[in-house]
Amino acid sequence: MKVLVTGGAGYIGSHTTLELLEAGHEVVCIDNLSNSKVESIKRVEKITGKNVCFYEGDIRDKGILTKIFTEHKIDSVINFAGYKAVGESCQKPLEYYENNIQGLLVLVMTMREFGVKNLVFSSSATVYGNPKSVPITEDFPLSTSNPYGSTKLFIEYMLKDLYKSDNSFNIAILRYFNPIGAHPSGLIGEDPKGIPNNLCPYITQVAVGKRKELGVFGNDYNTHDGTGVRDYIHVVDLSKGHVLAVNKLAENPGLIIVNLGTGVGYSVLDMVKAFEKVTGKPIPYKIMPRRPGDIDECYADPKLAKEVLGFKAEKTLEDMCRDAMNWQTKNPNGYED
Ligand code: NAD
Ligand code: UD1
Repeated sequence: MKVLVTGGAGYIGSHTTLELLEAGHEVVCIDNLSNSKVESIKRVEKITGKNVCFYEGDIRDKGILTKIFTEHKIDSVINFAGYKAVGESCQKPLEYYENNIQGLLVLVMTMREFGVKNLVFSSSATVYGNPKSVPITEDFPLSTSNPYGSTKLFIEYMLKDLYKSDNSFNIAILRYFNPIGAHPSGLIGEDPKGIPNNLCPYITQVAVGKRKELGVFGNDYNTHDGTGVRDYIHVVDLSKGHVLAVNKLAENPGLIIVNLGTGVGYSVLDMVKAFEKVTGKPIPYKIMPRRPGDIDECYADPKLAKEVLGFKAEKTLEDMCRDAMNWQTKNPNGYED
């Protein structure tokens, strides 16, 4: 199949492009490089020995999308393009609504015009807000507490309405838990700009001596050691979930909504220990106040993804930490090197 991957130069997009190529699909990418470098795509080509047809452009630009759908017979679209930083979304809500929602609208309207009706959408566990219990199943109540989360939830509503109005669309809404790690080659990985907001890139930067110590945001949560618990999933497993979703959409399943997680939760201190085990060195940390908006525990019930897509995360926590360290060590300054 020929798959259009929007945001394909980004963290999850580049890993998914690689897995699609490895599975024998052809890939066309569009990315405006607002949060990535084209080097990631070059490295995917190097690892796979296959070509990616790359367009530098914005999914809000109907002209470039029209050009792509005219030049290629696309079977399925995976939409990763969007902004993703929770804190920044509170400072710049309009930019987040405009990029994420407008981008999705222009993309889907152009797809409809060209009769392309298979779409995979990157949603997030953030749509569960502060869940009443764990593990989280897909029928839990939905809510958001920041503009980034609201863009994900609004888009979910929009896609459900679209499907109700035209059930010839096949739509997979994938709610990711916490993707971490990197391709085992160490050639592609997460390349955050400036100070990382998320736990794992912060730990790997401490581990290589780029940052002095990790701040642990709160140790008075209602969890086994007081620090926040999350469902960390290897980005390669997550990417394989997208290949399964694309294959499933070809069977005309209609609307699918599934969690992509492992079903296992680890605390911040569990993660520190896991990285210490892999690196053989202590990760210095200090306990800090809670980060506003953080919740105690969040992990998936992964059963539905297994039933619907045949998806099961295979990689261990050790794989995630080792591969994250391999990427960080080989590319201390990300794709700049
Ligand atoms: P990323 O920032 O690395 O990738 C997104 C890519 O989209 C970037 O390469 C960026 O340059 C591009 N982009 C942004 N706006 C664009 C536009 N208008 N047109 C074209 N390209 C555009 O982020 P990621 O971690 O790979 O996340 C991919 C998707 O998954 C995002 O939608 C994100 O919200 C969602 N998601 C990510 C996580 C996570 O923890 N990484 C968790 C849940 C959901
Ligand atoms: C973040 C996003 C969420 C997104 C998810 C997916 C925020 C507030 N939320 O979730 O919308 O869906 O990523 O990847 O950004 N921590 C520290 N010190 C740090 C960084 C984090 O102790 O320097 C802790 C946090 O308090 C949390 C855990 O580590 O308990 C994970 O944090 P993070 O990696 O930012 O992910 P989430 O907050 O779960």
